[in-house]
Amino acid sequence: MQTSVAIKDLAIEFGAVKVIEKLDLNVGRGEFVVLLGPSGCGKSTLLNAIAGLIDIVDGEVWISDKNVTWSEPKDRGIGMVFQSYALYPQMSVRQNLSFGLKVAGLPREETERRVGKAASMLQLEALLDRKPSELSGGQRQRVAIGRALVRNVDVFLFDEPLSNLDAKLRNELRVEIKRLHQELGNTMIYVTHDQIEALTLADRIAVMRKGVIEQFATPHEIYHRPANTFIAGFIGSPTMNFLKGALERTGDTLTFIGTAEARFDVSSHANIASHAGKPVILGIRPEHMVLGPATDTRMHAGKATVKVVEPMGADTVVWVDFGGDLRGMRIAGDPTVAPGDTVDFHFPPERVSFFEAENGVRI
Ligand SMILES: Nc1ncnc2c1ncn2[C@@H]1O[C@H](COP(=O)(O)OP(=O)(O)OP(=O)(O)O)[C@@H](O)[C@H]1O
Ligand SMILES: [Mg+2]
Repeated sequence: MQTSVAIKDLAIEFGAVKVIEKLDLNVGRGEFVVLLGPSGCGKSTLLNAIAGLIDIVDGEVWISDKNVTWSEPKDRGIGMVFQSYALYPQMSVRQNLSFGLKVAGLPREETERRVGKAASMLQLEALLDRKPSELSGGQRQRVAIGRALVRNVDVFLFDEPLSNLDAKLRNELRVEIKRLHQELGNTMIYVTHDQIEALTLADRIAVMRKGVIEQFATPHEIYHRPANTFIAGFIGSPTMNFLKGALERTGDTLTFIGTAEARFDVSSHANIASHAGKPVILGIRPEHMVLGPATDTRMHAGKATVKVVEPMGADTVVWVDFGGDLRGMRIAGDPTVAPGDTVDFHFPPERVSFFEAENGVRI
């Protein structure tokens, strides 16, 4: 894959605070990369550094094979969309879309062609003569996207563009952004703290914590093989169940011994054999837990007490007390269980993640 955006050895400080130290990131041409992480981890800072909106202390930024580290934002070949739409309130949608092109001195015909195309792609045609105050939040955000679109740039940068919208609009516009990317095929770097946006939109997700990219991989890899307990806990809802325990070997049998009744034969997990005798964390996602007794001897199985039942429409989250803590189980449909019931559960060994207890790193 050709590189579209490359960050090398990036360092950013605000006064005495080092927000990013020695960060590297390579984004492929046409790739949709999501920067995901909790509030304050440095996502916007990284995006602003790519856009040229903040000064960097060290490192280089390359866009489309040009070193743009010291270039003005307008010369970087990027279009940016922010959470706050930042539209000109006194201008119509059409004027908002064309203003930047006019200032850049683009011929009128070409300006009109681009505005027309963006309006059609974003379903804004009927709204072109309205003022921003006469638009819904979703429509305003589409105008903001359109304003980046008309610039015909190689790289789009989005900073939480959907977080001011209500849940339904957010879902709709998310699909539109994905469709737009499929249609345009240009590079997109998209900041969010919403794991669903990350999983649904990204070709690759960069999960950030405290200014560091902890894993950069496909949504599938991040979901199924999270690099550590932080990432495992950040992705997935409800969050992954973590059971603390130790691995004990007796002859050929390796047993996971957790708190209270948590005890599984984990001999089939070849990759953890070297951790026998050590403390580990067993991770299993709520959607991989199954109600009912084990269907075959490969399964890890146990009994638990139901505490809370949360119907979610398509499925139900059943919270059980197991191993001395509340654990979530996502069950399809409407299981007939009630608080106080004792239930059997099981889960397949291939769905389990193991982590070192000491530092949370995946085994
Ligand atoms: N101009 C600034 N001056 C001082 N500190 C700053 C400045 N901008 C950001 N920071 C600090 O840098 C860190 C990263 O901020 P950043 O805005 O990149 O986080 P973020 O991941 O985008 O978070 P959020 O999800 O809340 O938008 C934070 O600790 C923040 O307080
Ligand atoms: Mg931010």
